[in-house]
Amino acid sequence: MKIKTLFICSNCTFTSPKWLGKCPACDQWNTFQEETIQTQTSSKKKIDAKPKETTPISQIPKETKRIKTNIQELDRVLGEGIVNGSVLLLGGEPGIGKSTLTLQICGSLADQAEKIIYISGEESISQISLRAHRIQIIPENLKLLNNTNLEEILATLYMEKPNFAIIDSIQVIESQNIPGYAGTINQVRYCTEGLTNFAKETNTPILIIGHVTKEGNLAGPRVLEHLVDTVLQLEGDRYQNLRILRSQKNRFGSTNEVGIFEMKEKGLQEVKNPSASFLEERQKNAIGSCITCIIEGTRPLLVEVQALTNLTPFGYPKRTASGFDVNRLQLLIAVLQRHAGINLSNQDVYITTIGGIKLTEPAADLAVCLAIISSYKKKPLPENLTAIGEVDLTGQIRKVSQIEKRQKEVSKMNLATIKLKEAHIKTLLQQIL
Ligand code: TYD
Ligand code: MG
Repeated sequence: MKIKTLFICSNCTFTSPKWLGKCPACDQWNTFQEETIQTQTSSKKKIDAKPKETTPISQIPKETKRIKTNIQELDRVLGEGIVNGSVLLLGGEPGIGKSTLTLQICGSLADQAEKIIYISGEESISQISLRAHRIQIIPENLKLLNNTNLEEILATLYMEKPNFAIIDSIQVIESQNIPGYAGTINQVRYCTEGLTNFAKETNTPILIIGHVTKEGNLAGPRVLEHLVDTVLQLEGDRYQNLRILRSQKNRFGSTNEVGIFEMKEKGLQEVKNPSASFLEERQKNAIGSCITCIIEGTRPLLVEVQALTNLTPFGYPKRTASGFDVNRLQLLIAVLQRHAGINLSNQDVYITTIGGIKLTEPAADLAVCLAIISSYKKKPLPENLTAIGEVDLTGQIRKVSQIEKRQKEVSKMNLATIKLKEAHIKTLLQQIL
């Protein structure tokens, strides 16, 4: 055995023999961490393992037992509940609501499970209890433990035999068997492996919480993706209430579903009709406002886009976007300038989406364009108009996918779309503004 030093990118696990400032694989800066590994010196390894028996596929029971959390938005993302013996990883930025959601899951499962253990290395048990009281989840069979030592945690789990266990968060758990601080790739990986082994051996589902930072500096969930069965990501803006739960990987369900929640006084609440909630406070005949319909997972959602244009006081015009890609905004402004005859070269343009939702689909292009023009011309768009369409570089409005689904949602909310046969942004403007 030989000890070797390697540098691993904590974002994408790319390895390099020397330290690098920027990862050549994922282009992140300052993500390399030093790790020591043991390597076999001889290439001729002697295999002295016993052969194992294999099982015919037809003899394996088809059913997998699932525990429904009864939080519909969550069950939808999980694919009808949590599978026994599965390991879930819940990722998200600090403060987004991971511990809150987890506690709520415990609350929902408490009726069906004999014992649930919540192990937190980040917060003391009185801090967790404080949160639990705030959201009124205090079931008898929910046990708390504050610990960061993997071996002690595993010993507790093997002895207590819970029906469901939580680790909050993997970045603070440390094993005494391997070198390095908690949060390093080796530690995070080793601890997850230990917990996964426990889950599989005892058929106990485990939920592991993991932090991700925007810079990807921590050994984050990405490193663990292949070790666990399901990777969930809780997204949103910390300063807004909307939270979207996505599944990035799911061995037991589709990765196409999203769950929508709102952070309220008493924890995360399911949003049953997101379109209605996004449009709730919308003012009629507002200048610079347009509705669009996007598809999140498999669900159509109506979202309001707002634009503001203002004469640039001096220098270059400013373009800022929140919830929308600023490069795409620049491109759309160029298209409007060239093909719709709207001179925005001396105008600052600001774009924002309401409710903190991110518009990533090209289907939102048309709504962004119309909101800008509405603000520029200081005229409101026709009431109840919903704009769905991609705007290409020639100013042509293109069809988008799943249009029937979107139109259904539009009619459900008593809004309207204009049917266009081969339309150009300029002809459309003549029609409506
Ligand atoms: P938390 O679950 O601690 O986030 P994470 O575990 O992802 O770091 O929640 C953080 C925020 O949520 C905190 O700023 C307060 C807010 N919050 C509410 O608004 N309502 C609530 O009922 C709770 C428990 C938290
Ligand atoms: Mg937390």
